[in-house]
Amino acid sequence: MKTDLSNYVYLKDYQKTEYVISEVDLVFKLDPEKTIVQNKMRIERRHQTDAGTTLVLDGDELTFISAQVNGQSLNEGQFEASANSFRLLTPPADEFELTITTQVNPSANTQLSGLYLSSGNYCTQCEAEGFRRITYFYDRPDSLAIYKTRIEALKAKYPVLLANGNPLTSGDMDAGYHFAEWLDPHPKPSYLFALVAGDLGRVSAPYTTASGRNVALNIYVEHGNEPRSTYAMDCLIRSMKWDEERFGREYDLDVFNIVAVSDFNMGAMENKGLNIFNDKYILADPKVATDADYEGIETVVAHEYFHNWTGNRITCRDWFQLCLKEGLTVFRDQEFSSDERSRSVQRIQNVRSLKSRQFPEDSGPLAHPVRPDTYKEINNFYTATVYQKGSELCGMLQTLLGIDGFRKGMDLYFERHDGDAATIEDFLACFAESSQINLDQFALWYHQSGTPLLKVTRLYNRDRQELSLTISQELAPTPGQEKKEPMLIPIRFGLLAKTGDEQAFSAIRGAKVKDDVIWLENATQTIVFEGVSEGCVPSLLRGFSAPVNIESDLNSFEKLLLMQHDCDGFSKWQALQDVAGDILVKLSVGQEAPELDAFTEALAAIIGDDSLEYAFRALCLQMPSHDDLVPHLSGKYDPEAVYQAKLKLRKQITKRLLPLFETIYSEVKPASPFNPDATSAGARSLRNTIVSYLGISSDQRHHELVVKHFENADNMSDQISALITLVHDQITGYEVALQQFYEMHKNTPLALDKWFAAQASSPTSSGVEMLECLAQDPAFSWGTPNRVRALLDPFTIGNPRLFNKADGSSYKYLAQKVLEIDTKNPQLAARVLNAFRSWQHLEPTRRQLARQALASILDAKQAISIDIRDITERCLQ
Ligand code: TRP
Ligand code: ZN
Repeated sequence: MKTDLSNYVYLKDYQKTEYVISEVDLVFKLDPEKTIVQNKMRIERRHQTDAGTTLVLDGDELTFISAQVNGQSLNEGQFEASANSFRLLTPPADEFELTITTQVNPSANTQLSGLYLSSGNYCTQCEAEGFRRITYFYDRPDSLAIYKTRIEALKAKYPVLLANGNPLTSGDMDAGYHFAEWLDPHPKPSYLFALVAGDLGRVSAPYTTASGRNVALNIYVEHGNEPRSTYAMDCLIRSMKWDEERFGREYDLDVFNIVAVSDFNMGAMENKGLNIFNDKYILADPKVATDADYEGIETVVAHEYFHNWTGNRITCRDWFQLCLKEGLTVFRDQEFSSDERSRSVQRIQNVRSLKSRQFPEDSGPLAHPVRPDTYKEINNFYTATVYQKGSELCGMLQTLLGIDGFRKGMDLYFERHDGDAATIEDFLACFAESSQINLDQFALWYHQSGTPLLKVTRLYNRDRQELSLTISQELAPTPGQEKKEPMLIPIRFGLLAKTGDEQAFSAIRGAKVKDDVIWLENATQTIVFEGVSEGCVPSLLRGFSAPVNIESDLNSFEKLLLMQHDCDGFSKWQALQDVAGDILVKLSVGQEAPELDAFTEALAAIIGDDSLEYAFRALCLQMPSHDDLVPHLSGKYDPEAVYQAKLKLRKQITKRLLPLFETIYSEVKPASPFNPDATSAGARSLRNTIVSYLGISSDQRHHELVVKHFENADNMSDQISALITLVHDQITGYEVALQQFYEMHKNTPLALDKWFAAQASSPTSSGVEMLECLAQDPAFSWGTPNRVRALLDPFTIGNPRLFNKADGSSYKYLAQKVLEIDTKNPQLAARVLNAFRSWQHLEPTRRQLARQALASILDAKQAISIDIRDITERCLQ
């Protein structure tokens, strides 16, 4: 475990390596405790490097065995080897071959970084800095080499031997061993290296690329899970087709392998030709996976596949450029999902996720630019900001340049940088050049952290029939950034007449406007719409064209007009959320909300509107989250008061919409037999959201309906939403339902995760006591990331009422758990710790308790990882 109080790494310190490693020839003799890794590297000194300069390679917890240069063993004095570095003191002046042999212990590797065992199978995770836990190397993304990998293992226990690239040869050896050799012809950085050895089942499919290359697609899973992998295979094939059609990108090897493992720190990893997945993002059948799970599988399979071009063929120069691959690849997977499903529903879901994960990050102590310029621990920068805001920046580019203009820039990027380790500047230059538009101001989006706030005020001139909008942009200080510059903000817009119809205008002045997009460039700008009638209402930020907050001078009736009539699905939904948010803020501070009745009327009209998609209507029934309201309550955020306000609003909605709920519940029929497609999923989602409202009805009949919904469920979406309602509203019979669910799924960990989550997220439970009780369950384990996340995320994220219990018990508990998890898996511990990212917005009593809990981490008697130290220190700063 890295515990040093180590230094910051700075972007400005970037320097090329002194030597170039062009070829790597690896031999793995796999053993659970003593795996031997022989690493033969072809190395050349750069011209700029003085002859004789010491060659320094990275290592981490390595046991050195031996080293040779050009086949000659090295003597003492010629090198220095420690657990975390290898130094060749007397390197030859010309090209040479350096062979280093190390020993590693996969079974002791609980960090899940490097080579480790998952359910008895060997697998690797090298991003960001895991390769150095396997062998000494230039473990940085700008060091590209061609890898050959030979794996030797016991044949009976590990019949499947996989590595990157194409298979070369394989065969039997003595004493029950066998081997396989793989060659990856594409130069790649070490973080994309992968190896798998195990006893696995396989699902295969052939694929022919647009240019006629035949590719064998394989998904490897634990025996028995093969039938649960067919949906992932279908997603993979659709992703490959889509990337050919939409971006002209083809696959480039003879095989594409995916392996699903049950112990994994994140979602999945895009290793060249050998993607490794958290099995949660591969395995699906209707009994175990919800519609959200199916959607997650589609997203992650596509995401990792798309990395083959955005990440692998073109990689990052250094880790500061992480968003170059992650933001862009998230953008690509979101575009894919939008093309495969409903674009406006996808957009709303993505924005919801952005606002609940990235906006809080950007407005708290962990705020950082999409392209940071310093870090202590790179694993802590795989953040919502880098991924989600990074994707939004690509989306803004597409909005500014148009779909075709964006594609032109991408084409140039692929053409110019294929095979490179590139930077954000390289990326932006391609768009500036291909579009002939200066993007210098746009580039600020990559460098300035925080969410801009747009303040909009109106003035109508009756004589001239002109509406003026004065828009100012503000960007509050964030850690390390006091002063900010105005940015280029694309605002997609429309106007609504009083009647709700789209209002035409004769001209616009005061800003550059392309189609229906305003290019906001100044700190304050006044935009005038000519030839418009009095009382028309501006609809700004359609499709959420920029990741900003808006504070407008619209009154609640104008917001209701947008909610009822905006032709842009996203803006309609956003207007609804804004009105609901206003109501919740008022209720939570004990005020009246006079717009409540008009709101529930308008909501009823939307929910009863059969021309709207089911999934859209379901989203409209989801009221704003605590995170949505926190910015409006900063410094006095009382989670209990917000909880009560939400309950009150939901009760009002139930009262007004009950007849509608009953009709929809009985009339909407999702496809039978089960189909995971977007339309059926939408129907289930609408019905299940209605079920969650019926749980708070005071009518016994509705409670019985929820119980029936649980008992009759033929798919996980229905079953789990009924269970959640039963548990959260403590409806008679909920204990029995919990037991039935457990019995039914006790052999399927991914299904039991939902059983843990349903209870951990219950606002009516005992809090910490209940968590402690759940953690005693034989199915639970603190060593498995999926289990830990299934217990803690629903509590810290999904249960704001009890996570923020006024006595501080949950904060204390979490800090203690973080310390325990840290001893085994620092990456996981740091992620759990992110739960404190908004503590400064809390009301004073809770704020004080949260601070104490954070401080207790730094005061702990144990040595703590750099991962949790970094997060804690930044939180407290
Ligand atoms: N690059 C991966 C992705 O987003 C994610 C990733 C980064 C990861 N670091 C990891 C996965 C560590 C597992 C473990 O596609
Ligand atoms: Zn990624």
